[in-house]
Amino acid sequence: MEIQTRENFPNFVGFVSGVDLKKELNKELVEKIDEAINKLSVLVFKNQNINDDEQVRFTRYFGEIEASGKKSNITKAKDRRLSADLADVSNLDKNNKPFTKDDPRRIFNLGNRLWHTDSSFKKIPAKYSLLSARNISKEGGNTEFADMRDAYDCLDNNTKTKIKNMICEHSLIYSRQRLGFDMTKELSSEEIKNFTPVEQPLVRMNNLTKRKTIFLSSHIGKIRDWIRPDSMCFINDLIEYATQTQFKYVHKWSQNDLIIWDNRQTMHRARAFDDLKENRDMRRTTVLGEEQLI
Ligand code: OGA
Ligand code: MN
Repeated sequence: MEIQTRENFPNFVGFVSGVDLKKELNKELVEKIDEAINKLSVLVFKNQNINDDEQVRFTRYFGEIEASGKKSNITKAKDRRLSADLADVSNLDKNNKPFTKDDPRRIFNLGNRLWHTDSSFKKIPAKYSLLSARNISKEGGNTEFADMRDAYDCLDNNTKTKIKNMICEHSLIYSRQRLGFDMTKELSSEEIKNFTPVEQPLVRMNNLTKRKTIFLSSHIGKIRDWIRPDSMCFINDLIEYATQTQFKYVHKWSQNDLIIWDNRQTMHRARAFDDLKENRDMRRTTVLGEEQLI
């Protein structure tokens, strides 16, 4: 295996070669990849023409899979296109046709265009996400990643002090609200209980590298002991700061790219494409978090 980092992001993005994800990997190699994810955060594997089972097998090397379902989506089980091991990040219905404009599933998925970390609204958020590009859009549809450790390091001291012990509330309801999409109207009160906000510290640390990171996400809707409008202003400013060009890597997809990213120390977002016409088939597997980091 060889890892080549990007010129502007020597500590953030690595392109991995010499690994075939259609084959089983040995423990040593998996440990090397795991270490690289912790040190860098974003690993790109090119030309990996894998199927769902192969993606699931590769994901399991890094931990348990976070099942995709009622706690992270509004798609009913009977309407799913993929197994529960995979999060369907495409714009497609069960018949592989693009969602129509007003389809609630489409509007829900538009939340991926906001800067976020996967499952930050769960008590123990996702560790790694693996996104496989099975079919890409002709135009647009990039994915952007921002380095939250570098963003933390570059903060001024006043802000570092201010956010030191800050606790934020995360919920899917908050991020969808930003789009003007009211989940409480789409779901029953029983279902809405799954989306009760959870609290997360804003500053966390990677226990392996000891680097601090800002745990930001558009799922944040409130800071503990603050009122919501003040919270939103503060968090929006911080997201704007932390996603400046200097912290941001833009990935332009090729078919069969697979990217692993570390949700504990990055944010990401999808960019627009002609989603009413084009098929963008992206499939994500997610490694469960193991610990609540502080
Ligand atoms: C995701 C996600 C972005 C994209 O898979 O978690 O946010 O570009 N995807 O599809
Ligand atoms: Mn995501």
